[in-house]
Parts: sequence; structure tokens; C-alpha cells
Amino acid sequence: MTVKPRFIGSKIHRLEICESTNDEAAKLLRGGDVQEGTIIVSNEQKNGRGQRGNDWSAFPGQNLTFSVVVKPVFLKIQDQFYLNILVALAVSDLLIDLKIKNVKVKWPNDILVGTKKICGILIENTVRKVLDSSVLGIGLNVNQVDFEGLRATSIVNELDIESDKEVVLYNLASLLGKRYEQLRTGELSVMKNDYLRRLYGMNHALKFDDGEQFSGEIVGISDYGQLQIVKSGKLKTYNMQEVKFRFDQIL
Ligand code: BTN
Repeated sequence: MTVKPRFIGSKIHRLEICESTNDEAAKLLRGGDVQEGTIIVSNEQKNGRGQRGNDWSAFPGQNLTFSVVVKPVFLKIQDQFYLNILVALAVSDLLIDLKIKNVKVKWPNDILVGTKKICGILIENTVRKVLDSSVLGIGLNVNQVDFEGLRATSIVNELDIESDKEVVLYNLASLLGKRYEQLRTGELSVMKNDYLRRLYGMNHALKFDDGEQFSGEIVGISDYGQLQIVKSGKLKTYNMQEVKFRFDQIL
């Protein structure tokens, strides 16, 4: 049974094809008349965008590619990483509810099952004096089986059963709504603790590359969402482009 979501997803624009749902959301915001919580979902994206300027490609019709418009004017600009935390938690909540094991959040906000990516998230904020609006772009692998050698997985590959994408969308919208409410009511430390509990590599030795290859241990994130790694006995703090995980050599 599907229950129509109340806040996030109370309005849904459904597209057969578009360049990128994040771009469609930005267009709606520029037009000025977009209700908070609106979802734009497309069966296919011709120019799906990922983090670090990468592409996001998904087999048409098999996965969920959508964006949510929110207006988190209550959030301090320096707390904007909590939008990443909110989406990462809602997606991982969904996968844990589906009884998928070993769901992890890879900093900043890839969702993994083991070491395989199941969901990518692209958050684009408009900051004026406050956080005017944010587009939460989500690409969740649902019914795609073959990833052509990529380190990726999907709900069907984990559960051996195809999902109704509409049900997955509604459930995820409702979980996004719950986590958004936590953000609105200022439960930041609860959210950060949940995020750290699910953080891939937390308190484990892993291989990284920050210009030099090294083995280190993630010990947390800073108040601004930077990754904290102990490297050669010293605490180092990294911004998004400054460090890569080396999946070829997981210890
Ligand atoms: C990443 O892992 O690099 C982020 C991928 C984000 C993909 C989603 S799909 C829906 C939305 N529209 C886009 O163009 N990108 C995001």
C-alpha cells in the first residue's frame, strides 16, 4: 500500500525524460513559484550530474532519479553539511528498513552496501543571507541488475526481488520528511551521531590518497562536515576535493 507523503512529496512533477532533475528543480526555483517539498522525478536523465563534476548514468526506467526542493532558511549557513547528513540518513534509513545488511555512508554522502555504491547524492544550495533553497538530488539504484563491472549494487541485487519504484519513492519521501523535521527542530547532535554510526571506515584502518597514498583511520567529522583522519599519528581535516578513498586496497 502506498500512502501519499505529506510534506516532502506532497507535490510531484513526473517527467519521462530531462537533462537533469537538479536542473529542472533549479528552473522551478528561478521561476519563483515552487512549494517546499516538491519532488521532480524523471524516468530518464540525458545529462545526470554527480559530485566533483562527474556524470551520473542510470539505466532508463530501472532506478530512481529525483530531486527535492527545500527551503531551509532556519539552518545556519555554517551548518549546511547537515543537509548532506539528512539525505544520507534518510536513504540509509530506507535501506535498513528493507533489511539490507551492511549499509554504510561513505563521506560525504555516497550510500554503500559493503563497498558497493547503491545511491549517489548531489546537493546544490542557494545561499544569500540565509540558506534560501536547496536541491537534494538523489540517484538510487533500484531494479538495475548489471552495472558493467562498476563497484555498484541495487536494491534488487541485495534482496533478489524487484521493487515498485513508486512505493520506494513514497517511502523515501516520508523518511526525508522525518529527518527534515529533526533538522528543523535542531536535533543536530542526534543526526551527527546517527551519521557517525553509519560512517564507512569510522575507527578502521583504510587506504587514502591526499596527493600521497597513506593508511589512516577516520575518527569523525568537524562541525563543518570536513573529514577527520588520523594520518601518521596526527589529526588531519579534509575538505571534499582534498582526499580520496582507495578502494583497490581496502585493508
Ligand atoms: C554522485 O554520486 O556523484 C551524485 C549523483 C547524484 C545523481 C542524482 S540523480 C537525480 C539528481 N539529478 C542529477 O543530475 N543528479 C542527481
